[in-house]
Amino acid sequence: MKKEQTTKRSVQGGNGKTRKKVAKKRKRKAPEAADLTIVDEIIGRHQGAEGALIPVLQEVQGHYGYIPEGAVPRIAEGLKVYPSSIYGVMTFYSQFNLKPMGKNIIRVCCGTACHVKGAERVSSKFKEILKVPMGETTEDRNFTLEQVACIGACSLAPAVMVNDEVHGKVTPDEAVKILDQYKS
Ligand code: FES
Repeated sequence: MKKEQTTKRSVQGGNGKTRKKVAKKRKRKAPEAADLTIVDEIIGRHQGAEGALIPVLQEVQGHYGYIPEGAVPRIAEGLKVYPSSIYGVMTFYSQFNLKPMGKNIIRVCCGTACHVKGAERVSSKFKEILKVPMGETTEDRNFTLEQVACIGACSLAPAVMVNDEVHGKVTPDEAVKILDQYKS
């Protein structure tokens, strides 16, 4: 089965004029590691309901910004499902994260069209500026850098998606400018 992405998206061409909206957001603040009481509350509200796992995971992530690892055994026990099933669901649905994410998620497309048009150089530039490898979050939690497969903007390759916006025909130099737009 294919992963499902529940984000909406806006597409921005090289000159920033082309746009197609789709939406999404993330909020974020890592909780105290031990503070999982809200997880029990969320489970309590869904206990006994059919298909409760995904709504529970969504609410837990909505609260914490990610699924704290300590929450998994509680959810497993509360909903009477195997922890492996929970990890399986989280792996299948890319909306779920086990690690705290940055305020801004940068997704560099590594699909064929983008690869051919120099996505690797763009990736390297982001890694160099942010000083993090792919899949990691900057220390200030401002950015998470990810490599993803085709984001559906091949005509704008190489493409980079930042939160809900797609930036097209990105050069390494433009990577710097893109980051400047999202710095807080
Ligand atoms: S391959 Fe990058 S958008 Fe399609």
